Amino acid sequence: MELKPHDQDYWLLVEDILTNETFSQLINYNHHHTSIMEHALTVSYLSYLICKKLNLDYVSGARGGLLHDFFLYDWREYKKQPHKKNHGLNHPKVALANSHQCFELNKVECDIILKHMWPKAIGFPRYWESAIVSFVDKYCACNEFWIKFTSFAFSYRKTKLGSTLKKISSFAMLQNH
Ligand SMILES: [Fe+2]
Ligand SMILES: [Fe+2]
Repeated sequence: MELKPHDQDYWLLVEDILTNETFSQLINYNHHHTSIMEHALTVSYLSYLICKKLNLDYVSGARGGLLHDFFLYDWREYKKQPHKKNHGLNHPKVALANSHQCFELNKVECDIILKHMWPKAIGFPRYWESAIVSFVDKYCACNEFWIKFTSFAFSYRKTKLGSTLKKISSFAMLQNH
């Protein structure tokens, strides 16, 4: 299997993340009716395209977008536990701690991960790249939410973007085996 040259460029920016053993476990956790892996890859790829188009730091956009939900638990189960902290507010800190453990991060990537829940969580995005990932995250969450209720063409799964993402994630799975 080969990626198109444009997707190969994206792949090279995130290869170490997508082939990381701990990060790969995100495929096992549900998130808005997809897996966290599928969600994170979509947010990352779209953020990469937008940042590139706007001449922003697309490397940080791609990497921060991929790591923004790096938490290894099912948030629906997490919420049922009485003494746990609010998942919505707390998971950016968990994602940042997990990301620090596995990868070297720059200040833009840290800000992207920590501020992606704005305005629900306090902390205004400091960089354009953080604002873009935060916006794309909300767009993808709405899109994924609809997947359960409708086969509406709005779903990116049925578009060229959907088949590109499927190819990248299959490519990542091949590299991991
Ligand atoms: Fe999140
Ligand atoms: Fe997210």
